[in-house]
Amino acid sequence: MPILEIKNLHKRFGGLEVFSDINIEVEEGQIYGIIGTNGSGKTTLFNIICGIYKPNFGQVIFKNQDITGMATWQISRLGIGRCFQTVAPFKSMTPMENVRVARATAGKFSKGKELFTLDEIITLTGLKDKEDVPTQELSLPDKKNVEIARALACNPELILFDEVSCGLSGEEIYNRMELMKTLAKSGITVIVVEHIMLFIKNICDKVAVLHAGKVIAEGSPEQVAQTESVIEAYLGGKKQ
Ligand SMILES: Nc1ncnc2c1ncn2[C@@H]1O[C@H](COP(=O)(O)OP(=O)(O)O)[C@@H](O)[C@H]1O
Ligand SMILES: [Mg+2]
Repeated sequence: MPILEIKNLHKRFGGLEVFSDINIEVEEGQIYGIIGTNGSGKTTLFNIICGIYKPNFGQVIFKNQDITGMATWQISRLGIGRCFQTVAPFKSMTPMENVRVARATAGKFSKGKELFTLDEIITLTGLKDKEDVPTQELSLPDKKNVEIARALACNPELILFDEVSCGLSGEEIYNRMELMKTLAKSGITVIVVEHIMLFIKNICDKVAVLHAGKVIAEGSPEQVAQTESVIEAYLGGKKQ
């Protein structure tokens, strides 16, 4: 059963049509990748799933429930977590304080108690030795780790990662990939927007390619990388 279904989604900002008809199904436990050029609507899609924007037409179905147009806090409590492209943790608070605040607002994990304790979340996100340092003193990659930790503290069953590997170095990228695999193994469904193709190829079960308001290809990372329209639109054309 799909945990998330996007049906006939249309979104316009004034005269700009971002999507004309997006359809996506994400199965429970999958790592699902979304790629597309800048401005193709990846962040807008996440904003619609989370309730920040309303679509002009179409539906978002989460666990068989129509959540289109619900308030962001309701959607979060139902089990959808979100990491933003731009980091915005509580800067004067430590990572541990940040996750405590997030947990206080969390809904119950539907499979019973919390999936991860706060201590496990801090360890999983590589913040154990920095848990008492004010977040503003941390590096950008660690601030992103705090964002991920905050999203996990909300007990998500589906988590959306928007370019959380941007600006990371080799080992940090590897750690981020391992974290996402760990989450999927623990039963959390992951949707990831990334520009780094290596990342997408290594961890995603399925990938959708957004271009000019449509999903132009969907399939395994290998399948989409060989699709003619994707090579033209996203990978810069065929090798000469
Ligand atoms: N709040 C908004 N108002 C007007 N235009 C917007 C708004 N949010 C996004 N857009 C436009 O929608 C398009 C898709 O943006 P975005 O979803 O951020 O793309 P991506 O994340 O794929 O780079 C862009 O042309 C962007 O300028
Ligand atoms: Mg974006």
